[in-house]
Amino acid sequence: MKAVSLNDPLEIRGIRLEGRIAAAPIATASADPEGGPTPRSLEIYGRLARCGADLVVVEHHAVSRKGRARVAQFRLDSEASEKANRPMAALFREAGCPAFVQINHAGSQIRDEALLAEKYPVSAPSEVKHPACPYPVRPKEMDAEEIHSVIESFAAAGKRAISAGYPGVQVHACHGYLLGQFLSPITNLRRDAYGGKIANRARLLLEIVEALRPAIGGEGVLSVRLGLSDSFPKDPPEGLTLEEGLWVARELAGLGIDHLDISGNLCGYDAPGEAYFADWARAAREAAPKVPVTCTGGIRKLETARRLVESGACDLVGIGRGLQKDPDLIRKWKENLR
Ligand SMILES: Cc1cc2nc3c(=O)[nH]c(=O)nc-3n(C[C@H](O)[C@H](O)[C@H](O)COP(=O)(O)O)c2cc1C
Repeated sequence: MKAVSLNDPLEIRGIRLEGRIAAAPIATASADPEGGPTPRSLEIYGRLARCGADLVVVEHHAVSRKGRARVAQFRLDSEASEKANRPMAALFREAGCPAFVQINHAGSQIRDEALLAEKYPVSAPSEVKHPACPYPVRPKEMDAEEIHSVIESFAAAGKRAISAGYPGVQVHACHGYLLGQFLSPITNLRRDAYGGKIANRARLLLEIVEALRPAIGGEGVLSVRLGLSDSFPKDPPEGLTLEEGLWVARELAGLGIDHLDISGNLCGYDAPGEAYFADWARAAREAAPKVPVTCTGGIRKLETARRLVESGACDLVGIGRGLQKDPDLIRKWKENLR
C-alpha cells in the first residue's frame, strides 16, 4: 500500500482538506467586549487563513462568561457573540481554508488577573487549587445543576459556531482547562458519578460530545482536542495516565467524533525535543482507527512532518509556534513538496 504523503487530501465529514498540515490554535486574547474579533484579530486571522495551511483551528472561545480564562478571550456564549464572530468565519470561507473553532470552559485555570476583579465564584470539579493557575483561586465544587448547565453551554456554543459560519467545532479537553480538570484525578476528587474511575471522570466530556452532535447538525464537523495524560511521555507518570487517555479516545471514537487532536493535559503542551507527542498520536490512531488524528507539538522541520505522516504516526501535523515565528513556514514547506 502506498504511504500517505503530506500532499494527500483528506476528507473529514464532507470537508475536503487539500493536504495534511494544520495551523494549531494559538490564543491571541484579542477579542472585543462582545467576544468577537477586533481589527487586530481580523488582521491576524486574515493572514492565517491565507498562510497555506490545509486546516486552521481557531483559538479557544469561551462557552460562557464564567468559562473564560482571560478577559479578552473570544466567546460564543450569546446571539450577540455569534453575530460578532461571523466576520472571522467569513475570512476563512473567502480564503477557501477549512477552519474549526475551539470551544472551552476554563474552570479554575484563570490566566488573567483582571478576571478576578469580576468576583464571580470560580467553579471546578473539586475545591482544589489549580496547579498551573498563578493566582490564589480556590474554586467551589460544581453541583449537578452547574454540570448540566456546562453541557448546555457547550452544545449552544457549538450551534453558534456553525451558525457563525465555521464548518467545524473543536472541544478543548486538554491543557488542564475544565474538561481536563474533570479528567485528572489530581483536580477531580469527586465521589459522585463524575469522579473516581476514568469512566466517571470522562463522563462530562462524553456527555458534551453526545449533546453537541444534534446541536451542530449532520454537516458540522465535531473534533476533540484531548490531553492524553497529565505527564509528558518522558516523565514519570502521575495523575491521568496514558492508558486512561487512550480509553477516552476509544470512547470518543465510539460516539462518532470526526477528528481527534492530541496534546497533554495538566502537563500542558510544551515538552523538550522534537515531535514529543508522536508516540501518543500513533497510540491514539490505533485506539481510534477510523478517526483522523492530528499530532501537534515541537514539529519544526518539514522532514519531521513528512516522516510523521508517511510512517502513519498521524493523519495531520499541527504547527503552532513555528508559524508564529515564520508566517510563511507552511507556504515554504509546500514549495518544497511540489
Ligand atoms: C501563546 C499560545 C497560545 C495557545 N493557545 C491555545 C489555544 O487557544 N488552544 C489550544 O488548544 N492550544 C493552544 N496553544 C497550544 C498550541 O496549540 C500547541 O499545542 C503548542 O504550541 C505546541 O505546538 P508547537 O510546538 O507547534 O507550538 C497555545 C500555545 C501558545 C504558545
